Amino acid sequence: MQDQRLKDFLKEFIISDSQLQELYKRFTSEIQKGLTLATHQQADIKCYMTYVQDLPTGDEMGNYLALDLGGTNFRVLRVSLQGHHEAQIDSKVYVVDKELMTGHGTKLFDHIANCLAEFVDEHALNDQHLPLGFTFSFPCVQVGLTEALLTRWTKGFRCDGVEQEDVGRLLKEAIARRGDLEIDVMALLNDTTGTLMSCAHRNPECRIGVIIGTGCNACYVERVENADLLEPEYKVDKPNILVNTEWGAFGESGKLEFVRTDYDRKVDKDSLNRGGQLFEKMISGMYLGELVRLVLADAITQNLIFVRSGAKQRLTNILKDNSGCVETRFISEIESDTFPAFHQTRNILKELLGLENVSVEDCQKLKNICECISKRAAQLVAVGISGLINKIAEPHVVVGVDGSVYRLHPHFDSYLREAMQKLVNPKINFELMLSEDGSGRGAALVAAVAAKN
Ligand code: BGC
Repeated sequence: MQDQRLKDFLKEFIISDSQLQELYKRFTSEIQKGLTLATHQQADIKCYMTYVQDLPTGDEMGNYLALDLGGTNFRVLRVSLQGHHEAQIDSKVYVVDKELMTGHGTKLFDHIANCLAEFVDEHALNDQHLPLGFTFSFPCVQVGLTEALLTRWTKGFRCDGVEQEDVGRLLKEAIARRGDLEIDVMALLNDTTGTLMSCAHRNPECRIGVIIGTGCNACYVERVENADLLEPEYKVDKPNILVNTEWGAFGESGKLEFVRTDYDRKVDKDSLNRGGQLFEKMISGMYLGELVRLVLADAITQNLIFVRSGAKQRLTNILKDNSGCVETRFISEIESDTFPAFHQTRNILKELLGLENVSVEDCQKLKNICECISKRAAQLVAVGISGLINKIAEPHVVVGVDGSVYRLHPHFDSYLREAMQKLVNPKINFELMLSEDGSGRGAALVAAVAAKN
């Protein structure tokens, strides 16, 4: 049983069925605006062209390098496509610290080139001249497969000298500055494009790629005649184009205000990209922990939880002074925990707030707080995926999904499906499929498909 006072307190996170329908309506209208030339500039959801027009067949072969920047880590990968829908991948994670994330772009790209050189060296690939796919997971206006102008940074990155620049060129220049690497940059892509390609490699009915990780976004297969922004020459031979929606920006013109809370506003205010990515800020791993932190601090202040601890002031101070202290993975751990032992929850509370001997009721309340916030996130993602499925309107649509929130959270998938049942056209069968290394395998596939053309 949920405590009635806490339930009332959390009410503003509950999305009603009519709000869900309204969100759906507003979302699909923004997608349409983004696709249409005359309204594209004003649209929250930009629907960028990716210039990827072919899905993989599964027969692709060859060795590729891939770079993956924009999630929790930076990775360099070697991908060997082996035909028969198979791929083999080696990868190494490199740290990108805060200083690099917010310093000058030259430093960031030099670091990327250095990591690449180290990887090539360690794998004795120096003399192989491998083609490279660069998964760069930020909003970009693509000018072709190998040219992408960064629209703006998201997810805690803010390096000078990169916005409005071609990140393909910045990478090539950094490689050239070293002078010892021979690499062909064949393709720049978003992680959602990589996810879609990687899932389509295994299942040809995949039409949508979604990331619910540090950030949140989706890419889908659109018919060229619906893609106003696509130059006519790309419409002659190919029926489709992958569109990177950049749906994380939904809400920037006020369309989410009817469901946003003051906690969402505070998370936005404290972020590096104020006013931007408002949909993403209600969903993704970079922000869910922050939401729980702010809500929990308020719940303590209002004597709704941990009352018996007698440490109200101390607890709220810890929470209020330490942004980032509630990690999003804690939400997954708390929601996975079992009543009445709550082992993981107790460990987290001890580590985070120095609380011991917490009552079962308080553990349950904390779980309820987490559930409200993650369920709302899943409902918002459901709005997006359902909008795209109904737009594609094929009888059977497979959706590739990846990202730490989706992977680690015990109920995200079921919250998502529950809300999708209310929105997806009942004549359409849909399937959610966990993606396998979209940023690596997907990058190699885009490079492979590009090489074929
Ligand atoms: C970026 C997208 C990316 C998503 C998931 C967002 O912040 O704008 O390009 O696909 O995060 O990584």
